[in-house]
Parts: sequence; structure tokens; C-alpha cells
Amino acid sequence: MYSLNHVLLVMAAVLCFASAVTRAQTPAYSKVGRTPSEEEIRAWDIAISTDGKELPPGRGTAKEGAVIYAQKCVACHGQSLEGSPLGTALVGGKGTLATTRPVKSIGSYWAFATTVWDYINRAMPRNQEGSLKPDEVYALTAFVLFRNEIIQESDVMDARTLPKIQMPNRNGFVPPRLEDIPDPRKRGCRLGHCP
Ligand code: HEC
Repeated sequence: MYSLNHVLLVMAAVLCFASAVTRAQTPAYSKVGRTPSEEEIRAWDIAISTDGKELPPGRGTAKEGAVIYAQKCVACHGQSLEGSPLGTALVGGKGTLATTRPVKSIGSYWAFATTVWDYINRAMPRNQEGSLKPDEVYALTAFVLFRNEIIQESDVMDARTLPKIQMPNRNGFVPPRLEDIPDPRKRGCRLGHCP
């Protein structure tokens, strides 16, 4: 019979050996890659936060957006933004989130208009990502918001107005901390006991 100490000793030896092997196999990479330049980092660093503080200068309305949409987006997202086999619907789904068939769209699900701008700017049109100018992104965002009945057709979207848009589902998300849910029932409290 082996003693427990013996078994532990063997396990420790195996672990030491395994980590030594891993270390020996990790190459140094001393001659691969280089430090990116300030300019390169700026070009990659295009994320827009929910408060929109990084939004660039520019402006656009839904009217202008409709023209661009017809050229660059309609093929995948459809005449009425209803979607197609090539692209998701950009409208619809209001009131479906709490049902067994939730439809998540810009109007029914997205919490911020600023991140809609960010998404279109970085990811659309598919296969030509990054090709839109800030004015075009403002106009397209305005168009999508207008077709979801969130803004008027002539409302100007820019770095000042976009962060002020109240999206329909803005307050539909559960806060990261349970204690931040003000309604005890919604928080799941029963008979004075809260999770
Ligand atoms: C080649 C097809 C294609 C084109 C063209 C295209 N899209 Fe998309 N779009 C997609 C697909 C596919 C998705 C879903 C991507 C995913 O979920 O990973 C999407 C997603 C989106 C979303 C997010 C929808 C959501 O609720 O998650 C927005 C907004 C959007 N597209 C806007 C646009 C706009 C504006 C244009 C025109 C500038 C455009 N798209 C052009 C295919 C396309």
C-alpha cells in the first residue's frame, strides 16, 4: 500500500514536470511583431460607448438615410426593414420580449441609440465594413430609428442629439446587481426573503 504522503509526492512531481515541459515549449517570440504606432492604435480604437462621448462630428436625418439605405442595405434588410435570408429584421417585435417567441430588433430590444451608430459604423454594410462616412452613419441610424417610430423623419442626429434618444427597451434590462432592482417582487423577494 502506498501512503497518502507518497501519493501526494508523486502528484507534485508530475505537476512540476508538466509545468517545466510547458515552460520549455513556450517560444520567446523575440523577433515577431512590433509595437503599433499611435496612428494605428487610433485607427483601431473606434468603439463608441453607450454615453456616446466618442461620437465624431457629423450629422444626418432619416430622409438622407433612406437614400443610402436603398443603395447599400436594402438587398439584405428588405424594403420595409423586415429582413431577408441575408440580413436580420431592423424593425418589429414590440411587446414580444416577455413572450415565448421574443423578436429582438432595434426597436424592441436595443437599449441605446449610440451603440446602433457604433454597430452600423463598424459592421455594416456586411462585406464592406468600415466604408461608411460619419454623416452616412448618422443618416442611416436616423433612418432606422425613424422606421421604428422612435424619432421624426426630419430630426437631425449628431453627437449631441443621439445620446439623448430614449430607446423603448432602455429600462427593460436587469441591472448587473440584484440589489439594484427597486421592485422587491421583480427582484424575486418572497415573504421578506430576497435573493
Ligand atoms: C450582405 C448583407 C448585408 C448588407 C448589405 C447589410 N447588412 Fe446589416 N446585417 C446583415 C446581417 C447578416 C446581420 C446580422 C449579423 C449578426 O447578427 O451577426 C446584420 C445586422 C445589422 C444590424 C443589427 C441588427 C440587430 O438587431 O442586431 C444593423 C443595425 C444593420 N445590420 C444595419 C445595416 C445597414 C444600415 C446597412 C447598410 C449600410 C446594412 N446593415 C447592410 C447583413 C447585411
